[in-house]
Amino acid sequence: MRHRFLNALALLIIAAVSGCDGIYNPPLADSQNPGTPIPPVTYTVGGTVSGLTGTVALLNNGGDGLSVSADGGFTFATPLADGAGYAVTVGTQPAGQTCEVASGTGTIAGADVTDVAVTCTDDPPPPPVTTVSYASDVQPYFNAECTACHSGANPTKNVDLASYAGVMGSSVVVPGNADASLLVQMLEDGHRNQIQADIDMIRTWITEGAQDN
Ligand code: HEC
Repeated sequence: MRHRFLNALALLIIAAVSGCDGIYNPPLADSQNPGTPIPPVTYTVGGTVSGLTGTVALLNNGGDGLSVSADGGFTFATPLADGAGYAVTVGTQPAGQTCEVASGTGTIAGADVTDVAVTCTDDPPPPPVTTVSYASDVQPYFNAECTACHSGANPTKNVDLASYAGVMGSSVVVPGNADASLLVQMLEDGHRNQIQADIDMIRTWITEGAQDN
């Protein structure tokens, strides 16, 4: 009698410790819809966007398009199974910006991916519109009027007007500032009696940035 009681007590303790009532409870999905497999555990892919001023379209594995219009966190809609590969890329760049993806590829390893970093920076402004070309306007003018003296091994006053590199290396041009350029000052002081139209052409070239255009 006493032996049987102890056996029953032992069973009770085991039941209490194991936290079950001794009846097997299959997972809900299984019991309600026998034959329906339990969906596998999935994980999301996401990260942070910074520097964005427009709208960037992000892709994961070439699809699952996600449009982001503000800095902050993002998460792709479609989760992935453990062990699946992910590869975040930019589908469409924002207007006037270029976004780059860091930590964008990897393999799901039992956790959501939250460290994809998308950094957007402004594109450089387009070069200013120019009306005077160094190659077609400026150099032919120098060749016609100036290089007889300002070229060769020993250009007069070390002012070499035979090439763009020579002109800029002679320190007679201040890009963007015609008045401060010795080249313009000389011409306006009557050096070699140049016509005003040519002086204006040189002025405009310098004002437009003295580009090698
Ligand atoms: C016939 C030779 C000759 C030609 C052609 C000539 N120069 Fe000169 N250039 C000189 C001499 C000599 C000097 C130095 C004396 C002076 O200041 O006039 C000089 C000085 C200069 C200087 C100043 C250099 C300094 O450091 O003081 C500049 C700039 C210059 N020339 C630009 C031009 C340009 C631009 C042309 C073409 C439109 C031109 N030159 C055509 C002979 C010439």
